[in-house]
Amino acid sequence: MIYDYIIIGTGVAGLNAARLIPKNKRVLILCKMSTWNCNTFWAQGGIATAVDESDIPAHIKDTLTAGVDYNDKEAVELLSKKSITAIKNLIDAGMKFDKNEEGKLSFTKEAAHSRNRILHADGDATGRIMHLFLLEQCEHAIVTESVVCDLLIKDDICYGVQYFISESEQKVAFAHTTIIASGGVGSIYRYHTNSTANAGEVQGIIAEKNLPLKDMEMMQFHPTVVKGTTFARKPLLSEALRGEGAHIVDENNYRFLFDYHEDGELAPRDVVSRSIFDYNKKTGLGIYLSFETFEKKAFKKRFPNIYANLKDLGYDLPFERVPISPAFHYSMGGIETSLDAKVKGMKNLYAIGEVACTGVHGANRLASNSLLEGLVFSQIAVEDSLENDFKINIEKYDKKIINYIRNKEIDKNIKDNLREIMWTHASIVRDPENLRKSLETIENYLKMGVGRLLYLRLLTAKSILSSALGRKKSLGAHYIKEN
Ligand code: SIN
Repeated sequence: MIYDYIIIGTGVAGLNAARLIPKNKRVLILCKMSTWNCNTFWAQGGIATAVDESDIPAHIKDTLTAGVDYNDKEAVELLSKKSITAIKNLIDAGMKFDKNEEGKLSFTKEAAHSRNRILHADGDATGRIMHLFLLEQCEHAIVTESVVCDLLIKDDICYGVQYFISESEQKVAFAHTTIIASGGVGSIYRYHTNSTANAGEVQGIIAEKNLPLKDMEMMQFHPTVVKGTTFARKPLLSEALRGEGAHIVDENNYRFLFDYHEDGELAPRDVVSRSIFDYNKKTGLGIYLSFETFEKKAFKKRFPNIYANLKDLGYDLPFERVPISPAFHYSMGGIETSLDAKVKGMKNLYAIGEVACTGVHGANRLASNSLLEGLVFSQIAVEDSLENDFKINIEKYDKKIINYIRNKEIDKNIKDNLREIMWTHASIVRDPENLRKSLETIENYLKMGVGRLLYLRLLTAKSILSSALGRKKSLGAHYIKEN
């Protein structure tokens, strides 16, 4: 049988696409682990939107300024102009964002926004509430624990996917339209805020097929992650905390960020992360997030989940400050798509959300534009595919399926080394010599006969390192150490 759609991924982009595809279509949704294991689920601060028509120019300007004007301007305009109806549609369908005492939508502020324009839900659990809402709305079947290991591509047509459902069993599914919404690459970095499912395998497949990846060196590091926990995914302290008054201080309570940027804690994310990294290196002092501007009851009400999570970790907020450090957070780069969300050069293959690169985020994503991107571009992809109504001719695909091995004995050590290399040499501060050496190591690993999934991750890492080497000058999140 041929599906009308295959969707890879169940974050905001994949689930919103599923919500918008008519019920009479046959849709297969593949989810790598369990449905909640995605970055959307963990998103705290909120979803940015132009507050009304008059705010569109300012939202565009803030997005471009944070992105160091490296953004695709048309993509930014599209994102902002479509934000108001995308949010309205979601609210009309039943999504509940927090309201203020007057019963109006409550907008908060995050770094580099010139005004309050971030909607939130259950205080600081916006992603989780949106994710649960979209799951409830989903009328198509989701197959969990299915790991995509290949795209069936011939010429400019995608015929479907090949995926593992266990260590050894592989399946193939055909579809007229395939939508990739598999998220970013967090798990190839040692310290990250991402779901463990996000390891960049699909980006690796794209690299293998010589399809375009764009801006892979543009990786974002979130400044405020709780330091010292042993979890694979590091607990985030949302930017909304700083937007509403939390301060970044050194162990002597000094707000050193003003030495780096006039906006201090509310400077663009790349600036804040880099400044923390630099200050800590120069002074050796510990860095903290301080909540002393908050009153306890108000803090608990506004940030109930952060309050509870930090309590479990032994911190009494807002009275105690929390040690922080930056960690990998978001890939601005990804599969190059045009503004109709199609993968460049392909007829019936779409990429949406963090896995895609429309250029909308430029060299540094503006806070809370990510959920919005997933929402807006999933709608664009569904509308375009319905209009396009592309039909594959299965006779044209020679059904030679490769029998991949999912994991191998040697993978564990290489996987750990990969995370260490990426964190040490392809993160906040980079230098050409170490990038070159890292690339050589990754190229050697690729020759060692590793399992399929690790092989794909390595291809993604190779693409990040090669792009970083290719960009000789610092720009936004890509920072080259000056000698
Ligand atoms: C946060 O809550 O700080 C994360 C928001 C984002 O990644 O834009």
